[in-house]
Amino acid sequence: MWISFAGIITNYKDVKQFLVQKGHKFRSDTDTEIIAKLIKHIHGLHPNYSFRELVEQVIQQLEGAFALCFKSMHFPGEVVATRRGSPLLVGIKTKTKLATDHIPILYSKEHSKLKDHRPHGHEIPAHGLARSQSTSEFLPQGDNKEVEYFFASDASAIIEHTDRVIYLLDDDVASVEKEGVLKIHRLKRTLEDTHAREITTLKMEIQQIMKGNFSSFMQKEIFEQPESVVTTMRGRINFDSETVVLGGIKDYIGEIRRCRRLLLIACGTSYNSAIATRQLLEELTELPVMVDLASDFLDRNTPIFRDDVCFFISQSGETADTLMALRYCKQRGALIVGITNTVGSSICRESHCGVHINAGPEIGVASTKAYTSQIISLVMFALMVSEDRISAQPRRSEIIQGLRNLPDQIKEVLELDSKIQEISKKVFEKKSLLVLGRGYNYATCLEGALKIKEITYMHSEGILAGELKHGPLALVDKGMPIIMICTRDNVFVKCMNALQQVTAREGRPILICHKNDQEPQKYGSSVLEVPKTVDCLQGILTVIPLQLVSYHVAVLKGCNVDCPRNLAKSVTVE
Ligand code: G6P
Repeated sequence: MWISFAGIITNYKDVKQFLVQKGHKFRSDTDTEIIAKLIKHIHGLHPNYSFRELVEQVIQQLEGAFALCFKSMHFPGEVVATRRGSPLLVGIKTKTKLATDHIPILYSKEHSKLKDHRPHGHEIPAHGLARSQSTSEFLPQGDNKEVEYFFASDASAIIEHTDRVIYLLDDDVASVEKEGVLKIHRLKRTLEDTHAREITTLKMEIQQIMKGNFSSFMQKEIFEQPESVVTTMRGRINFDSETVVLGGIKDYIGEIRRCRRLLLIACGTSYNSAIATRQLLEELTELPVMVDLASDFLDRNTPIFRDDVCFFISQSGETADTLMALRYCKQRGALIVGITNTVGSSICRESHCGVHINAGPEIGVASTKAYTSQIISLVMFALMVSEDRISAQPRRSEIIQGLRNLPDQIKEVLELDSKIQEISKKVFEKKSLLVLGRGYNYATCLEGALKIKEITYMHSEGILAGELKHGPLALVDKGMPIIMICTRDNVFVKCMNALQQVTAREGRPILICHKNDQEPQKYGSSVLEVPKTVDCLQGILTVIPLQLVSYHVAVLKGCNVDCPRNLAKSVTVE
């Protein structure tokens, strides 16, 4: 038995105990092994079951979140794959066009059917399908019937082979049988099911997922930001008429304007993008805005109402905590808005409406370009909601023009790279690095510190400068490395005050401030000058130097930049 497994089986101890009682011996303490033993056990009891039926039986015994792909010497030439809670897609490669762009779901008659030992193949085709869809014939047109299938968690793993994929849904069981035909089965029919799975054509290009001249994907993705912010805005902002249209949300705008409050729910970097935009959302929507970490939101059983609008922000669209929070809010009748970078992801599919941030595939575990594109997507949302408010027009106009100039300004920030590399040499051997700021730059502090922790393993904390005197000031002395963000906005004077508090305790911070702004510069040990933009966009320009600091420190420390220890790109377990 060959099993490819991603995820977690939460009841594996119970299953293992059962199998041990039945005389099975285990070589490891992993949850993967119980799956192999369980399928063997069921095969022993029911030697007539098809490979697919065995897998259906297995997954009914499993709890948790998983994506599984099975091969067995008992069923040569066959593959069975299934998922629950973890992403899984099937790539299809053929020489000629396929006869259909949908594959119908086949429902096993009843759960008890399996117990009857009925010969397999007696599936009921889906009802409610158009005639063209009501065939399980899934073969290429013409004489060349050759088909290759690829099973993967993420489209970037298969894009070099094919751009045609089917995204499987929870509890779909996809089987490729001997004759090379792909079938998708489900045990039970549900009302919500669409009775067919669509074959999607990926828009991803191979070069998008290659490293090119960069030493890591993270470095490539940091340097892609002048372009990725443009793709996020493309087709959505008209800079001349100063209008913004988000196609995935426009039909819901009326409902959103009438809502009780906005909730932004996410994890990690995506959560920081919510912090970065909360103030602007409050200003332009004039609605109360709550920002929550998905895990904490669920822990609190937070009250949700039918007239709430809940945003779920996720690069991957698969983060388990965010997805659970989405389902929690959906059950309570709220409007669900997904903000994701992954078309076809679980969050995408389960949302009522949403925005694809279109940052392109992000491979490095530490999120960079997705963060700046998430901010832009949320800013565009705020601009769209406030379109009919006359009093908001000057503000909207300055933001839209700020967005127009952003790509060039990002390029300017990226030119600081070699200076940042030099600064990184001064801090990479230190134990800790504090990042201080407030207002719109507070999110930059959190995100910068998260990047440093994630890929350099150095302790780092993002501190709201307003909280300095309530504790963190005790950490400050001449040996404590500090980065401080001090740009000309409505909290500049307060930031200068915090800066003086730090220097009075012999702290010599590295400063991120506006170009040619002499006043803060005299207090810094080194200075990184960034161009000035509108306050609510400034965080995009101040976070990039911190992305680069984390990158250079990680390289200097010899860390694996793209795959930091203990972390995963997409955390599909709770
Ligand atoms: C993981 C990643 C983080 C990411 C977080 C949320 O922890 O390592 O980089 O920010 O998940 O991911 P999402 O895909 O939901 O944005």
